[in-house]
Amino acid sequence: MVAFVWLMLVAYAGLILPASSQEDNNKNIFILAGQSNMSGRGGVNNGTWDGVVPPQCQPNPAILRLSSELNWVEASEPLHKDIDVNATCGVGPGMVFANTVLDNKNSSMSIGGVVGLVPCAIGGTKISEWARGTYLYNQLVNRASAALQDGGGSIQAVLWYQGESDTVNPDDAALYKGRLERFFMDLRADLQSPLLPIIQVALASGQGPYIEKVREAQLGIDLANVKCVDAKGLQLEPDHLHLTTQAQVQLGEMLANAFLQTLPTPTSCLDI
Ligand SMILES: *[C@@H]1O[C@H](CO)[C@@H](O)[C@H](O)[C@H]1NC(C)=O
Ligand SMILES: *[C@@H]1O[C@H](CO)[C@@H](O)[C@H](O)[C@H]1NC(C)=O
Ligand SMILES: *[C@@H]1O[C@H](CO)[C@@H](O)[C@H](O)[C@H]1NC(C)=O
Ligand SMILES: *[C@@H]1O[C@H](CO)[C@@H](O)[C@H](O)[C@H]1NC(C)=O
Repeated sequence: MVAFVWLMLVAYAGLILPASSQEDNNKNIFILAGQSNMSGRGGVNNGTWDGVVPPQCQPNPAILRLSSELNWVEASEPLHKDIDVNATCGVGPGMVFANTVLDNKNSSMSIGGVVGLVPCAIGGTKISEWARGTYLYNQLVNRASAALQDGGGSIQAVLWYQGESDTVNPDDAALYKGRLERFFMDLRADLQSPLLPIIQVALASGQGPYIEKVREAQLGIDLANVKCVDAKGLQLEPDHLHLTTQAQVQLGEMLANAFLQTLPTPTSCLDI
């Protein structure tokens, strides 16, 4: 009898363990980079986060994040708390994005398994600070490589939201398009994924006077598999600088829908 129970336990474990390692092998990795609105300031006022986490941003055992120590941990808001350490972080688009991608019920556009988020955004950074060879660029590539280390997954896309800091000075704005394209191309080359989907956000308004120049650059990127969602019209915090929590929820959903559109649609047998 004891032997029988033991056998049953072994058989049960045998059913469970391959399933969980299969999940790990199926990690869908997303890189989050850019500046403060990607890092997340939703709910932050006067340097304090209100702690409000809407239903769309709730943790889920199938959503992990790569910590600053390069460990996978269950993800929760604020996603960038140990990355963008010199700022008070709040809600960003990452958790909403992950929940929306996982909730997608359209089987022709769904990913299985686990989502692994790799937060890399730092507030107040210019595009020149993300060029190949810089500290931020190396951090990004190192974190992306660490995410792949256990062999359990692949990078599905980069989510990029940056440019506010390049709207202040006319030279930065004029050089923005070339620098952004260079950055995308270098990153794809270094991640060995020449057509890696990149979903970027076009800024809505800004502190600097050259916002239209930067927006034109963002909306005019002509590289395959680079998509742009527009933040125009999304609500800002009383500081007039950052997206509110509700706006981040909308943005995360927009990013998720744009990503889901990049997935290959299965060809129908009837078409052959
Ligand atoms: C932030 O501080 C300002 C000035 O002290 C105050 O008027 C405002 O009500 C504060 N906002 C919040 C959300 O606490
Ligand atoms: C935080 O600030 C310190 C001191 O200015 C600086 O050395 C460090 O690079 C900053 N870290 C980040 C992530 O911005
Ligand atoms: C599922 O996605 C495919 C590909 O984008 C689309 O053609 C189809 O209409 C979608 N189906 C539903 C039910 O949304
Ligand atoms: C945050 O995003 C909004 C909407 O795009 C933009 O108006 C604002 O300038 C951004 N702020 C920063 C600091 O990037």
